[in-house]
Amino acid sequence: MDPKIKSLVKKMTLEEKVSLCSGSDFWHTQEIKRLDIPSVMMSDGPNGLRKQDPDADVRATSKSIKAVCFPAGVNLAASFDTDTVFRVGEMIGEECRAEGVATILAPGNNIKRSPLCGRNFEYYSEDPYLAGKTAAAYINGVQSKGVGTSLKHFCGNNQEYRRNCYDSRIDERTLREIYLKGFEIAVKESKPWTVMCAYNLVNGIQMSENKRLLTDILRNEWGFEGIVMSDWGAVRDRVKGIAAGLDLEMPGSKGAYDSLVIEAVKNGELPEEDIDRCVERILDYVFKAADDAGQNREWDREKDHLVARDIAGECIVLLKNENRALPVKSDEFTLFVGGFAKTPRFQGGGSSHVNSANTDSVLAAVQYNSKVIYEEGFSAFDDMYDERKFYRAVEASRDVDKVVVFAGLPDSYESEGYDRDHMNLPQVQNDLIDAITKVNPHVIVVLENGAPVTMPWVDKVEAVMETYLCGEGAGTATALALSGKINPSGRLPETFPLRLEDNPSYIDFSGDSNTVEYREGIFVGYRYYSKRKMDVLFPFGHGLSYSTFSYGMMNCDTDKMKDDETVEVTIDVINESEIPGKEVVQLYVEADIPETNVRRAVRELKGFKKVYLEPHERKTVEFILDKSAFAYYDPEISDWYVEPGDYKVEICSNAQTVITYKTVTVVPKKPKKPVYSENSLYVDIIKNPKAAKIARPYFEKYVKECLATRTDDRTDDNINMADHEVELVDTAIRNALNMSYGSITYDEMQELIDKLNG
Ligand code: BGC
Repeated sequence: MDPKIKSLVKKMTLEEKVSLCSGSDFWHTQEIKRLDIPSVMMSDGPNGLRKQDPDADVRATSKSIKAVCFPAGVNLAASFDTDTVFRVGEMIGEECRAEGVATILAPGNNIKRSPLCGRNFEYYSEDPYLAGKTAAAYINGVQSKGVGTSLKHFCGNNQEYRRNCYDSRIDERTLREIYLKGFEIAVKESKPWTVMCAYNLVNGIQMSENKRLLTDILRNEWGFEGIVMSDWGAVRDRVKGIAAGLDLEMPGSKGAYDSLVIEAVKNGELPEEDIDRCVERILDYVFKAADDAGQNREWDREKDHLVARDIAGECIVLLKNENRALPVKSDEFTLFVGGFAKTPRFQGGGSSHVNSANTDSVLAAVQYNSKVIYEEGFSAFDDMYDERKFYRAVEASRDVDKVVVFAGLPDSYESEGYDRDHMNLPQVQNDLIDAITKVNPHVIVVLENGAPVTMPWVDKVEAVMETYLCGEGAGTATALALSGKINPSGRLPETFPLRLEDNPSYIDFSGDSNTVEYREGIFVGYRYYSKRKMDVLFPFGHGLSYSTFSYGMMNCDTDKMKDDETVEVTIDVINESEIPGKEVVQLYVEADIPETNVRRAVRELKGFKKVYLEPHERKTVEFILDKSAFAYYDPEISDWYVEPGDYKVEICSNAQTVITYKTVTVVPKKPKKPVYSENSLYVDIIKNPKAAKIARPYFEKYVKECLATRTDDRTDDNINMADHEVELVDTAIRNALNMSYGSITYDEMQELIDKLNG
């Protein structure tokens, strides 16, 4: 820590130090004029700047300045493109600087455990690798502009229901591999200035007091050097929080807890050094943030709107396109149906809601196209039937070449603060799509929603385009994608299951009272559906293009490696069509170790790259894989471990479809040292040649003294160990003693265990 900061802390009174550890209001850190400690401002995030209007009352926290609404988190992940995400970060960073905002409260990086979580639109993925890489790119983009980020909500915050007090019960392996992994990648690859701790508890401990997660893992293991702040109102016990490594309470509670903290220091319950540590970190943050935050510089909303529109185009996912229904040709007479065509739903509700200055709609975008007509059919704001509108839309569908239905979830269906209780679109929308398919075979559905929905009509329509919540450029971007001027290149960052009941968390979401058991373990999203060989509506990673791509030879620069080495994977991608487009090359790893005792997903995403290809162009895509591509978290050794064996490195078009693969054998540099006990099984012991040699005489004795006596013609000479292997398989070291009628002694057993443990 900077010696200047250390000496500043020395000059501060205990009261000043404690006051600095809480915000001064909803959005600012505390100023201490006497020591020239400035106050800095933070604002939401993530899909644009939600800065409270400086002219509004201090309590009017939802009154925010006009700003640019970028695509939601789910869209950014759907771009499968870290360059796109970095660009969004840069834009938001620039806006923050111009507005004097030192830190954007973003990105949200919680795993989509269930399709029902009300904030799924803000989060990235069901896959921690995709989520972590997307979060890192966002943070790097924002912070490249000298503005901080707050990686949130750390961690286990995967539902909104009872979010202040539910306890996420997550086993260690699952925590490490799924719920922490995305945070770990982001912390290590982007060094966020701040991390926001979640409201909930994890394994019995409130996150704002969770020393193991906030200090032992986040700081000591991952090397996080910034400040940890609370989510807004997430503090329960400030004294425990400070001891656990929670630096800043937000918003400020106007000193509500200060006297308790001061008392705890005075009576020796809380060492003053704990406060000093928080204060040092906050000062470091505040000076860095104040240095960089410019005030009231101009920024060009119109320019940023156009960027938001471009970005939206990168995130659109074409889910289905039969008979090349899309793009719609310019001479096709087309009916647009659905209130969303006029009033797009382009962002979610809650703290991320941006006061968008400039929204466009798909109808406005095609206003000069005389081939397009419009019928509302249903409202974008609710799920009510209006029979007149419904039948007008059906009637109008009869005489057009194509019908494009703009369907989606009304605002009230998904938001921060509550979860959905089903996965369906409003019934009126499903009914209308169904009715239209009966009078016109050329139906295209465009979806505006923040999380998966069911599609009972999917086999009856020709095309489905998922635009998620595409930001304020949604209308134009969608119109361009429909007409082919944008070639869709997004991929699903989550599985769309056929039914909600298929989702692995279905039974446990959202818990009993305040306890949420994560019983599905590591089998979240596609990890579960693939393991169960289940059909899904659309798999993770799925997305089509107007171009046609093919793949050339795949190469790995080695087929054998130690886990401290790397393997370079290359593959050629070719655009076989006349249409320029972008392909997302997805790399997964599948452990191919038949004798394993470790439960693993069929395959896991370990790399992705988006490449732009002109017609008939070929490009080589390269990936470098290291230990993290092959390892699982082994709670027995409290570390990541690569089981020795074969691994298929697969290039896939989605989590269920392998295009080609190569096998690489990976061995750990430091093999796991097995720990032997009374309960060690023969079958496990003989896997290790050294241990097998040590244990063989012991088991031979057991066979001679016990197993072989069961046969009448037994003589010591005709005992053959091989005849007894099958019976021995499940025999533990202690069974040999228990069943040997006293011929094996307790001391012999102990001696064997000691020898095995070396
Ligand atoms: C949300 C955070 C947000 C904060 C400030 C909380 O309710 O969970 O994501 O940053 O409010 O608005």
